Amino acid sequence: MKLSSILAGAIATASTANAYPGLDDMLAKISNVSPKQSTSLIGDLEHLPKNKLSKTGKAIHDILIGTSHGQDTWTRYWQVPPQDSLACARDTCCIWKHIGEEMRTAMTGTAGRCNSLARGAIRLGFHDAGGYSRKTGPYGGADGSLVLANECETRIANRGLGEICAQMRIWHTKYQKYSITMADLIQFGSNVGTVVCPLGPRVRSFIGRKDNHTAAPDGNLPKPRASADEIISMFADKSISPQGIVALLGAHTTSQQRFVYPNRTGDPQDSTPGVWDTRYFRETMESNPPQRVVKFPSDVNMANDPRTRGLFKYYGGMLGQFAWNEAYAREYVRLSLLGVHNINQLTECTKSLPDYMESFIQPDQHLLDDFLQGNRDYAAASLRSGDVIPQ
Ligand code: HEM
Ligand SMILES: *[C@@H]1O[C@H](CO)[C@@H](O)[C@H](O)[C@H]1NC(C)=O
Ligand SMILES: *[C@@H]1O[C@H](CO)[C@@H](O)[C@H](O)[C@H]1NC(C)=O
Repeated sequence: MKLSSILAGAIATASTANAYPGLDDMLAKISNVSPKQSTSLIGDLEHLPKNKLSKTGKAIHDILIGTSHGQDTWTRYWQVPPQDSLACARDTCCIWKHIGEEMRTAMTGTAGRCNSLARGAIRLGFHDAGGYSRKTGPYGGADGSLVLANECETRIANRGLGEICAQMRIWHTKYQKYSITMADLIQFGSNVGTVVCPLGPRVRSFIGRKDNHTAAPDGNLPKPRASADEIISMFADKSISPQGIVALLGAHTTSQQRFVYPNRTGDPQDSTPGVWDTRYFRETMESNPPQRVVKFPSDVNMANDPRTRGLFKYYGGMLGQFAWNEAYAREYVRLSLLGVHNINQLTECTKSLPDYMESFIQPDQHLLDDFLQGNRDYAAASLRSGDVIPQ
């Protein structure tokens, strides 16, 4: 453990109120890491004068520029009005609490880990919003088009999203009488997927995006064999900094790939799939991670690049979890609003999310260990469904 990461972690834990401005400076001083997250304004917030900002517009503005938190582990409903009550109809967030509970149940397995639906939802949120690039114009972001224009079925980049796309169609049909949009369903689903993975951040969630049935421009999503240069320049066109990419990439902590190495279907990207811990960062840097762990070349390229290597070390370090959760949440709020042009009219519904899980113990550690050594092939399926591995 290097001194720099201990110090950095301690600072991150100590200064929760206003973590980033101070943290940036301190980190830059004590290590070569400059954890500058993305800070530019996007969408309608780019041009709106400050005195025209709504309450939510101001909240999002502050998250984007880095003066306010992207996660909220506390705000919640103490009592939710029944789904079809007048009280529920009068409260924009109420129906989302009901949707969130249905999603939570569908996204969690018997081991308490998040399942393939949760991970699909997280990735779907990225792929719908990530269709945006300033190079291809103002449309194509978080507008539901991935599902509405069948990009799920027609684009190679979306391979593996079939299950979640089908489920989103079912939920959309079920809840459309409450005038929800597919765009919101996808982004809210991504945030539910994240928080139901044990240790996952509770990302602040906003409602009110508009749908678009026109497919997003093709070619704005990264490939698993891309170089660091390619990835960094692609995300720059989405207003996301190299450090922001690292925070977002950490979502691979939950993953079990199928299509990058078809001969290793179900093999995870770190030794704890379905759990939002920091092992992904450590094991992506290690030359000999557990046998079953398989790394994407794109992840390895980012872990080796001088611009981002330090942050893999920091997030993978002993006290990295808190700083990473903070960074992920802030970057994901940004991602979830790409191509959205009515940010100032959105409503915050973070209180509709399931609760944050700050600790987790694997109920089947010895079986998981055995799987990671290269035995018990059948465990890959249990891990995908979030269920306890049978003896
Ligand atoms: C350079 C950027 C990225 C590349 C090249 C990439 C590529 C991939 C690939 C190839 C898979 C495996 C699909 C499969 O074989 O089933 C995957 C899985 C996944 N990705 Fe990414 N990804 C990137 C960034 C992100 C970001 C920014 C997020 C979320 C914020 C994300 C979330 C996920 C999740 C949750 C999974 C697991 C899906 C599952 O287990 O079904 N990825 N990614
Ligand atoms: C939907 O996206 C297309 C381009 O992809 C754009 O021309 C159109 O104006 C958008 N519609 C709405 C309602 O935003
Ligand atoms: C699996 O496929 C990769 C290439 O995709 C190859 O390098 C590797 O040797 C294959 N492994 C086995 C056991 O066939």
